[in-house]
Order: sequence, then C-alpha cells, then structure tokens
Amino acid sequence: MVYFIRPIKDEDIPELNQIDREAFPTMWPATNFKREMENIMAHYMVLVDGDSSNQAGPKTNINIWKWLWNCIYHDSTILQPVADHPKVIGYGAIWVMAGSAHLVSVAVREAYRRKGFGELLLISSLKEAIKHKCFEMTLEVRVSNIVAQNLYLKYGFAIKGIRKKYYLDNHEDALIMTLDSIDSPDFPAKLKGYKNSHTRKWKTTPGMAELAS
Ligand SMILES: CC(C)(COP(=O)(O)OP(=O)(O)OC[C@H]1O[C@@H](n2cnc3c(N)ncnc32)[C@H](O)[C@@H]1OP(=O)(O)O)[C@@H](O)C(=O)NCCC(=O)NCCS
Repeated sequence: MVYFIRPIKDEDIPELNQIDREAFPTMWPATNFKREMENIMAHYMVLVDGDSSNQAGPKTNINIWKWLWNCIYHDSTILQPVADHPKVIGYGAIWVMAGSAHLVSVAVREAYRRKGFGELLLISSLKEAIKHKCFEMTLEVRVSNIVAQNLYLKYGFAIKGIRKKYYLDNHEDALIMTLDSIDSPDFPAKLKGYKNSHTRKWKTTPGMAELAS
C-alpha cells in the first residue's frame, strides 16, 4: 500500500461527504466541499490510498442500495456512488486569513484511525500554512473531543480561550487552541523533527515511509 497527500479534486467529494458524516455526524450544515474548492482562502488536502487510485476505471463492488439510501435519506447532493473500498482515507483543511491559518477540519475514516494518519494531515496542514507565510495556526475544538485535543497538544498547540456554546447541535463550548510563531526561523526544523519521529514510529506501516518522506 502507498498513501499520499494531495490537493482536493472534484472526484473526491462523494468520499469526503462520507468521511464528514462519519466524523461529524451532528454537524449542520454539512461541509459544502464544492464551494470550499472555489474559496480562495481555503486549502483542502486529502490523504489517498495510492493503490486504490492506481486501479483504472470505477470500483466494481459498489453497494448501489447503500448509495441510494444515503442519497435519499442523508445527503441529496451526492451525485456519484461511493465505492466500498475507499480511496480517500482522510482530509485536512485550513483557511488562510490575514496571515493566520485556521485549521477548519482534520478527519480520518474510523477504520484507519490510530495509525498516524491524523498526525500526517496535521503536519501537511502546518506545511501548507508555512507555504502561505502564516504566523500562527489556530482552531476550535469541542471541550469533549479529548482525542483531537491530544493530537493538537502533541504538536505544541496551547489552549488560548473558550467560545461559549459554539456548537449549534448541542451548544457545547469550544476550546480555542493556537500554535504560535510558525513563521519563526526554527519552526521548519521543529516540524522536520516531528515528521522524523513520526516516520520512526510508523515505519512498519506499509506505504507510510513513502508518505512521510
Ligand atoms: C482526531 C483524528 C483526526 C485523529 O486521527 P488519527 O489518525 O486517529 O490520529 P493519529 O493516529 O495520528 O494519532 C495522533 C495523536 O492523536 C491522539 N490520539 C489519537 N487517537 C487517540 C485516542 N483514541 N485517545 C487518545 N488520544 C488519541 C494522540 O495524541 C496521538 O498520538 P500518540 O499516537 O503518540 O498517542 C480522528 O480521531 C478523527 O478523525 N476524529 C473525528 C473528527 C475530529 O474530531 N476531528 C477534529 C476536529 S477539531
């Protein structure tokens, strides 16, 4: 298996809708990926299973009934069936505004979690922010989302504040977490250090070495 990260394409949208429904089941309105692709502030990257995308033509084991059910009952914007064997494993997205990178989302398919992919998407998002000369990365995270908070804390994000009743579904508070000074001269070396320890940890995962190098 070979995984890689690349910018979003139109063809990813059905799978991204699927990932969003799984990762953020109560989020409303759902992410409009098509509109985000036209947003000049937004930078979306997807983590792709390279073996799956190398195969020519559509996947054969599409569950058409599951697809129809999703179209009718969950998301009428899905226009193409989604293959049972996923090509897109996860995605990360930032919005760049006035030199600040807002981490809009990072999500990994449930079946692929705890394998280091979330970290890779965060590293790529940070690289993208550096490319756009941002001085910080900031985000909101549910107070109950300890998993994501752990990921951000691991990469040096600090809790800077709280947005009361930020989430519309259950009025949960959001923590504001920020990683400062990503434009400092020593940050690229620090990021490289994070990447190297990630490579050491996950070198036994097929495809991970190619992706992480
Ligand atoms: C948050 C998310 C992207 C993490 O992805 P992942 O691929 O499972 O994460 P990784 O395997 O790269 O783990 C990276 C770090 O995250 C933290 N983490 C991941 N899973 C965890 C768990 N089950 N419990 C506690 N910490 C966890 C740890 O700090 C971990 O580092 P470690 O391996 O050294 O302990 C994933 O859980 C997800 O998609 N969740 C739903 C969407 C979401 O909540 N996104 C964040 C919105 S703000």
